[in-house]
Amino acid sequence: MTTQHAQYLSADLPSGRVAHFHWVWLRDSCLCDECRNVHAKQKYFDSATIPTDITASTVRRTAEQVEIVWPDGHRSSYPTRWLAEREEHRSARPPEPRDRIPWTSPDVVADNRFGSRDILVDDSALVTALQRLFGHGIVVISGQPGVDSNTLCDRLAGFVDRSYFGEYFDLETKPDDKTDSISFSTRPLPMHTDIPYYTTPPDYQFLYGLDVNAAATAATGGRTRFADGLAAAQRLRDDDPDAFGVLTTTPVTYRAEYPAAEKIYQNETTIIRTDPTGEITGLINNPTKMYFDKVPFESTMPLYQAYSRFKGLLGDEVSYFHSWHPGDMIVFDNRRIFHGREEFSASTITRTLRGGYFSEIELAARMRFVAERIS
Ligand SMILES: [Fe+2]
Ligand SMILES: [Zn+2]
Repeated sequence: MTTQHAQYLSADLPSGRVAHFHWVWLRDSCLCDECRNVHAKQKYFDSATIPTDITASTVRRTAEQVEIVWPDGHRSSYPTRWLAEREEHRSARPPEPRDRIPWTSPDVVADNRFGSRDILVDDSALVTALQRLFGHGIVVISGQPGVDSNTLCDRLAGFVDRSYFGEYFDLETKPDDKTDSISFSTRPLPMHTDIPYYTTPPDYQFLYGLDVNAAATAATGGRTRFADGLAAAQRLRDDDPDAFGVLTTTPVTYRAEYPAAEKIYQNETTIIRTDPTGEITGLINNPTKMYFDKVPFESTMPLYQAYSRFKGLLGDEVSYFHSWHPGDMIVFDNRRIFHGREEFSASTITRTLRGGYFSEIELAARMRFVAERIS
C-alpha cells in the first residue's frame, strides 16, 4: 500500500516497515535507460534540473514494484526489493575507514593476521583484512610460497601511491654507515611515521620481507616495532591536556635534502593534527628529520617536555614486535602507527625489506567492490 504526501511517497515494505521516499529523489533515481547508463550505473542528467516541487501524476503499486507516471508523461518503476535496499542503506551506516579503534593491548594484532595466499584467493579474507586495517591501523599478512609483493599490492589497492622513492623502496640493511639514510644501517631506528616533510604524508605504508633469514633475525634481533600513536595521543589528551595542547598547536619543521634529485623537501606542521572538533586526525613525527629551530624561545621547553612525554607513551602496552619471515607483508596506517627497528646485535647481517605506500581511497574502493561481490 502507498500513501501520497505533498513532498513524498510512503510505501510499506516486505519487512512490514513503512518507508518514505521524496518525489524529487524518486524522479532523480529513475532506473530506466533513458535516464541512466545501466552498464556504467551513471546518470545522464544533473539532479539540479529536477523541479524540487515535482509530484507524481499517478502512482500504481503492484506486488513487485511501484510505478510512477510523472507530469511530463515519463514513466518510472521501482522494484519493491530495490526500494527496501535503499531504505536499509539510509538507516544502517556501513563501517567507514575513519572508524578507528585504539589499541588497548598488542593482542589486537594477533586477530589481524592473514595468510598471503588467502588474501589473494579469498574475497572474504581480503574484506576482513581491510576492515581490520581501517579499524586497528595494522594488518599482518604472513608470507606463503609463491606470493610476491607486486601481486599483493595489486590485490590490496590496484596500484601503489608513488613517492619520492618511486613505486617502492628496498631497505637493504648493510653493516656500514656509508649510506644516504640511516634507515639502511644496522643501528636502531627511532619510532617514526614516514615522509613527514610532505604536506600530506602517505596514508598507508607497507613493509615486505623481500630477503630475510628468519633464523638469523631471531638470533640477532632487528625486529620491527609497531606502536599505536592514536592510543598514545588519546592517553596524553586525558592525562596531560597541556602537553597535548602544545603538540597540537606548536609547528615543528620536517626537512629532507636529496642532492642527487636536486630537491629539498620542507614542511611545517604540528606533531599531532586535530580537526576543528578536537578529533585527532593524524600524527606526523620522524625524529631523524625533525627540527625545532623555528620554535619561539618561550615555546621551546614546553615543546621538548610535551614531545618527550608523548613518545614515552608509545610503550610495550601499545606495541607489536614483528620478527620477519620471507614474504611477510605488514600494512599500517602511516597517520597513526609508528614504526621503528631494534638494533641488530650482529653487525654482519644483511636483510632487505621492501616498502611502499597506499592511499586510503584505493584500499577503500577495493574493499567496497569486493564486499559487494560477495554480498
Ligand atoms: Fe619508515
Ligand atoms: Zn527514466
